[in-house]
Amino acid sequence: MMALRSVLLGVGGHLPERVLTNAELAERVDTSDEWIVARTGIRERRIAADGEKTSDLAIKAARAALEHAGRDAHDVDLIIVATATPDLTFPATAARVQAALGVVKGAAFDLQAVCSGFIFALATADNFLAREQAKLALVIGAETFSRIVDWEDRGTCVLFGDGAGAVVLEAQTCDTQRGVISTFLRTDGRMHDLLYVDGGPSETQTTGKLRMIGNAVFRQAVEHISGAMLEACARAGVSIDTVDWFVPHQANQRILDGVARRLGIPVEKVISTVAVHGNTSAASVPLALDAGVSDGRIKKGDLVLMEALGGGLTWGAALVRM
Ligand code: UT7
Repeated sequence: MMALRSVLLGVGGHLPERVLTNAELAERVDTSDEWIVARTGIRERRIAADGEKTSDLAIKAARAALEHAGRDAHDVDLIIVATATPDLTFPATAARVQAALGVVKGAAFDLQAVCSGFIFALATADNFLAREQAKLALVIGAETFSRIVDWEDRGTCVLFGDGAGAVVLEAQTCDTQRGVISTFLRTDGRMHDLLYVDGGPSETQTTGKLRMIGNAVFRQAVEHISGAMLEACARAGVSIDTVDWFVPHQANQRILDGVARRLGIPVEKVISTVAVHGNTSAASVPLALDAGVSDGRIKKGDLVLMEALGGGLTWGAALVRM
């Protein structure tokens, strides 16, 4: 059956040059490489250089995705930047990205769902394309969490990194099995104080620092992520066994393993970049997707299930045929 679909034409990523190792962190706070690797799987993460902004990373990831898609920036008519670390309070980081790419049509806006941001942005773009309100969309996850991490707090500063990933989606009338097949999004604001930043323009007139009750978030993660993945599959009428690749939010290797165990997913089907990226929040899913596509594991025609959970709490999943 033919239908209007959001087809994923290209993916790209960008990481800052500076690598921050566990050994370097152990010189700053009371931690160790052994603890970080055993509890999270993280070995190193990237940190933006002084003056390097979220938009700088987003622009580079967007250019890489457009090149991979073989599309010109001038044809883009929708840009959504998922970020919790915008360059400024306003205007949207997406507006800067749009200007830098030379895009002069359509809308560009930021979307805030913290670590789930890319999944929320993908679902939002899919709805715009399905309603024929846009034709060619750039969906970007970009973060500089190094700017909001409390570098004195060993419970959080070892977890996060900077980076950006992007995809190009085009509305195409094609076989219904291609493109974004289903999405599932959830927010439960009752858990807003498990993971938050303790500053903002309205409440404190400061930027604030990231605060997290890590083990409480961990307990929510495996259950809600598993549920979201099953729901996205159920909405598409596909069995989770038929999924070729799982592209999870890269918060903690133990969460990836826990979800895989719970759903009976072979670990070889799970793309993991957490060891070298850490948790890059909204950038983590597109960066992991980019890694899987770049090294040839994820191929055209493969069924890919992405998922994330983050502050809000927010969580969700997206099923895409590449
Ligand atoms: O991306 C958004 C979603 N975020 C997540 O999904 C993160 C979810 N949470 C986690 O990944 C884990 O909870 C953490 C990695 C943050 C923590 O691991 P945990 O196994 O849940 O440890 P815990 O918080 O229960 O802490 C255990 C112990 C504590 O010591 P005591 O109180 O038992 O003496 C902590 O103080 O580990 C201690 N600890 C550390 N020790 C060495 C906490 N951070 C560190 C550290 N190095 N960096």
